[in-house]
Amino acid sequence: MKRPVAGNRTEQLLGCLKRGQGRWLSGESLSREMQMSRTAVWKHVGALKSEGYLIASSPRKGYRLQEIPDRLLPWEVRDGLQTGRIGRGEIRHFPRLASTNLEAKALAAAGAPEGTLVIAEEQTAGRGRRGRSWFSPPGGIYLSLIVRPDIRPEEAPRFALLTATAVAAALREATLLEVRIKWPNDLLVQGGKLGGILTEIGMEMDRVEYMVVGLGVNVNLERKDFPPDLRPLATSIRAETGRIFSRLPLLRGILEEFEGAYDEYRREGFAPVRRRWQNFAEMTGRRVTVRSLGETFTGEALDIDADGFLVLREEHRGTMRFFSGDVSYV
Ligand code: BTN
Repeated sequence: MKRPVAGNRTEQLLGCLKRGQGRWLSGESLSREMQMSRTAVWKHVGALKSEGYLIASSPRKGYRLQEIPDRLLPWEVRDGLQTGRIGRGEIRHFPRLASTNLEAKALAAAGAPEGTLVIAEEQTAGRGRRGRSWFSPPGGIYLSLIVRPDIRPEEAPRFALLTATAVAAALREATLLEVRIKWPNDLLVQGGKLGGILTEIGMEMDRVEYMVVGLGVNVNLERKDFPPDLRPLATSIRAETGRIFSRLPLLRGILEEFEGAYDEYRREGFAPVRRRWQNFAEMTGRRVTVRSLGETFTGEALDIDADGFLVLREEHRGTMRFFSGDVSYV
């Protein structure tokens, strides 16, 4: 079945219905305001209904918007979004996609500008860090954002830390959960994994040409939705709060925090990001194992340094710094 695409005129009609704030609006008044025939109004209402909008219609009273679907539709993401550029350009929305990161990388390589966003309601081959997969059924947020910061490749991991602090701040604000970060950028609540970030870069000489920032957040998944092997490790906003959250305001909050952190990084460098990251840090002072470059190191996690490296007081080797790796508690 061909999916009706809500075009510009449909979006404008939606704007009229929203301004009606749940009141009945006659077909005649809508056709006047939109300068289109009543049949055309009826067609656009049909397009909105097939996108999941609940719109009551009555031959006498006209139309009434009853419910906006909790789908991350581009025009809904933009509606009320308080950013200057992030999420302001093209937003590609897919009901289902293999991986938003793969799609975004292809777009970035073809020249898509900074701020382009790819969103999927579900992913069939969601990718995690270190070659792992990312469980991505409906009910989560799965997005990839294209950015083009003027940085060297070795600065790229700092961007992943920056994203983690922005997402943690947005989720804390919206859910009041004590979201924490495990290095480098796992989002945790009470030790359970709530979300993850996968950044991938394209390079040109010694500069970053583009970066794809991929984010997955478990929002309305129930504990029983996770496969048995993930159940002890993963969590979701719903599992932690017992409530279903509308994903749209969460997503807008994430984009707004991200833009703020990105601008701050451009103005002031990594120091403020580092300070914020330290406030969210899960594991400072804890005994951990770091797996990096095929080796395992155990010791006390001390901090992240001015480059975003993890600093570990290793039991046998003294202080060590890690650029990348996987941390677990011992
Ligand atoms: C991790 O392993 O912690 C990172 C998980 C990142 C998952 C997100 S979901 C949206 C984007 N597209 C992908 O294929 N992966 C990232």
